[in-house]
Amino acid sequence: MSLKQTFQVAPKGTLQGNIRVPGDKSISHRSIIMGAIAEGTTHIEGFLEGEDSFATLKAFRAMGVKITEPHNGSLSIQGVGMSGLQEPTQPLDMGNSGTAMRLLCGLLAAQKFSCVLVGDESLSSRPMKRVSEPLRTMGAKIELEDGGMAPIRISPSQLTAINYDMPVASAQVKSCLLLAALYVDGVSTVTEPAVCRNHTELMLQGFGYPLEIVGNKVTIRGGASLKACDIDIPADISSAAFFLVGACIAPGSDLTLKHVGINPTRIGVVNILQAMGANIELLKQHEVGGEAVADIRVRYAPLHGIDIPVDQVPLAIDEFPALFIAAACAEGITTLSGAEELRVKESDRIQAMADGLATLGVKHEVKPDGIIITGSAIGGGVIDSKGDHRIAMAFSIAALAADREITILDCDNVATSFPGFAELAQSCGIDLRVGTS
Ligand code: S3P
Repeated sequence: MSLKQTFQVAPKGTLQGNIRVPGDKSISHRSIIMGAIAEGTTHIEGFLEGEDSFATLKAFRAMGVKITEPHNGSLSIQGVGMSGLQEPTQPLDMGNSGTAMRLLCGLLAAQKFSCVLVGDESLSSRPMKRVSEPLRTMGAKIELEDGGMAPIRISPSQLTAINYDMPVASAQVKSCLLLAALYVDGVSTVTEPAVCRNHTELMLQGFGYPLEIVGNKVTIRGGASLKACDIDIPADISSAAFFLVGACIAPGSDLTLKHVGINPTRIGVVNILQAMGANIELLKQHEVGGEAVADIRVRYAPLHGIDIPVDQVPLAIDEFPALFIAAACAEGITTLSGAEELRVKESDRIQAMADGLATLGVKHEVKPDGIIITGSAIGGGVIDSKGDHRIAMAFSIAALAADREITILDCDNVATSFPGFAELAQSCGIDLRVGTS
C-alpha cells in the first residue's frame, strides 16, 4: 500500500499577517469550460492550480482545446467555439471533482460525439442521478452505473428545452442544465429551491451570453455564442474559511486575507461567524468581472453558539467542516439542520466531522440533516480525514485551540483545492508538519 500524507499539528498558536489563498475552485472550473467553447482567446489570472481544476483543464485538452500551461495562476485558452470540441480518445478522468463531473455532463450531453466520465473512489460513490434525470428529460442519452453513480456514458442526441424545478439546492445541477441549454433550440428555465452559487450565470454574462435571472429562476435561450474575455479569479472563500475560523479561535490573532471572493451566494461563512460573535471586517470591497471581492480582516473574539439559519446553509455549504470547529470552540450550543447535502460531499461530512470531534472530546449529537455541537475544551489525538480535503484542513486549524497535538491521516487530497496549504498555514502561525504513514 502506498504511503499517504499526514499532518501533525502542535497545539495552540496565533494567526498573524496578510495572506492570499489560492484561486476560487468553482470559478476556475467554469473559466476553463467557458473559455473552451468561446470564440477567441480567453486570458485567465488567479486560476486554482489544484487537482480538481486541473481535471477540468485536462479534459478540455483531451477534447482538442489548446490551453497554455498555468503559471502562477495565469493561462490562456484558445476557444474552439460552441461546436469545436473533438471526441476524446479515452475516458475523461474527473479525479475527485464533483463539479467537473456534473458540469461536464451537461456540456457533453449536447455534443456530437460519445464519451465516458470516470472519477476516483470518492467521486464514484457520489449521486449522479440529480444530473442524469433532468438531462434525460431534455432527450440526453446518458447511462450511469447501477446505483446512479459514475462511470457515466454519454452518447450524442438532440436536446430539447427544459423547465426544471430543482429538488435540491445545487449549483452543480443548475450549471449542468444551463450548459446543456446553450445547445438547445428554444428557451429553458431552471428554478432553484434556495439561492445557491451563481458563478455560471455571472460568467456566461461576462462572455456576452444573454440570460435572465428573476428571483431563483434563470431563463436562457440556446443558440447564441460566447465571446472570449479576460477573467481575474478571486481567492477562494472556501479556502479562506479555514483561516477565518482559525483566527476567530486563536487568542491574539489578527489576520488579513487578500482579494477574496465575497459573492453574496458564497458569504454564508462570514454571516454565520459574525452571528457567533466574530470580529470580521470586509475591506477594499470592489468588483472584478461581475464578482464581488474584498480583503477580509479577522481578529480573535470569543464565539458563542447559535442556531444556524437554514437560509445560510447553501451559502456556506463547503464551509461547514471549518464552522463545526468554530462551534466546538464557542461558548454554548450550535445547531445545524437542513444540511443533509453534507452527507454526499467528498465524504459524509457530518459523520466524518462527528468522528473527529469525538476523538477531540467535543460533545455533539448527530442528526440526519445536521448536528448539535456543545462548545468545550478541545483535546488531541489521531483523526481520519476520510480522504476529504476539507475535513483534513478543518482539523488542522482545530489544533489552534487544542490542548494536545492533533494528527490527521490521509491528507493528500488537500491538493485538490488548496495546493500549498501546509506552507501557508506555517507562514501565518500554525505549527504543522507534513509526514507520511
Ligand atoms: C459547487 C457547488 C456545490 C459545492 C461544490 C462546488 C460548484 O455543490 O459544494 O464544492 O462549483 O457549483 P452542490 O451543487 O452539490 O451543492
